[in-house]
Amino acid sequence: MGRIIAIANQKGGVGKTTTAVNLAAALADNGKKTLLIDMDPQGNATTGLGVNKNELEKTVYDVIRDEMNIKDAIISDIFDDLSLIPANRDLAGAEIELMTVDRMQYIMKDKIAEVSDGYEYIVIDCPPALGMLTVNAMTAANSVIVPIQCEFYALDGLTQLIYTIELIQKSLNPDLYVEGVVFTMYDSRTNLSLQVVENVKDYLKQNIYKTIIPRNVRLAEAPSHGLPINLYDPKSVGAESYQLLAEEVMENGGVQ
Ligand SMILES: Nc1ncnc2c1ncn2[C@@H]1O[C@H](COP(=O)(O)OP(=O)(O)O)[C@@H](O)[C@H]1O
Ligand SMILES: [Mg+2]
Repeated sequence: MGRIIAIANQKGGVGKTTTAVNLAAALADNGKKTLLIDMDPQGNATTGLGVNKNELEKTVYDVIRDEMNIKDAIISDIFDDLSLIPANRDLAGAEIELMTVDRMQYIMKDKIAEVSDGYEYIVIDCPPALGMLTVNAMTAANSVIVPIQCEFYALDGLTQLIYTIELIQKSLNPDLYVEGVVFTMYDSRTNLSLQVVENVKDYLKQNIYKTIIPRNVRLAEAPSHGLPINLYDPKSVGAESYQLLAEEVMENGGVQ
């Protein structure tokens, strides 16, 4: 069974997709067979791997609607050891449609179970909301990684996020845990970044990754080339940081 990791934070623009894409790519780069699942209707993880989201015949939406076998929705080995289940704006409909389905919270859990034996890691990129898509991702997952952007409002919404994770633990997925918080877009030239890291550490009783992802323009450029950072610019600090994060994730071994 592959380890299933949801990358979640209901805030937009905090580095979820950048982390999902580049962590998945770094794991694959380390020879781990990895599946990235795009669960955001914006389809940014899909674009980030160079897949045109407007020309897709099969997406995670078809899987959720039970109109396609999950195996058929996988785009296999886009890069060595890295496969993708893509998404596009069609998925926006699922947020409401899921509400009318039996066991609506468990749909992705049941679907992923059909393929998880084929992968060592399954990384799910969540949308910027705590709706039914994120609930599905967290119900399917073994653990959650929470990216936190080093900015003034970093703590806003964290209470709600942790509360949601606890609710899911209580009712839908008792084994779910926060594998770690990862700071993103750290700017060493400002005191603010450092202050944010210190504040969040004081406030959160969660595991925090030693690796901090710096603000790095190469990370922002890579998606427009359809490449993860390890292929776009393997020597950049962005690539190095996600490699270090992947090492921590692998060392973790999924143990709480
Ligand atoms: N470490 C980083 N350095 C520079 N730019 C980054 C970094 N992480 C993310 N970005 C950029 O910030 C924006 C938001 O990041 P993204 O990963 O899409 O966030 P989310 O998925 O949480 O909405 C994107 O334009 C992305 O390229
Ligand atoms: Mg995103």
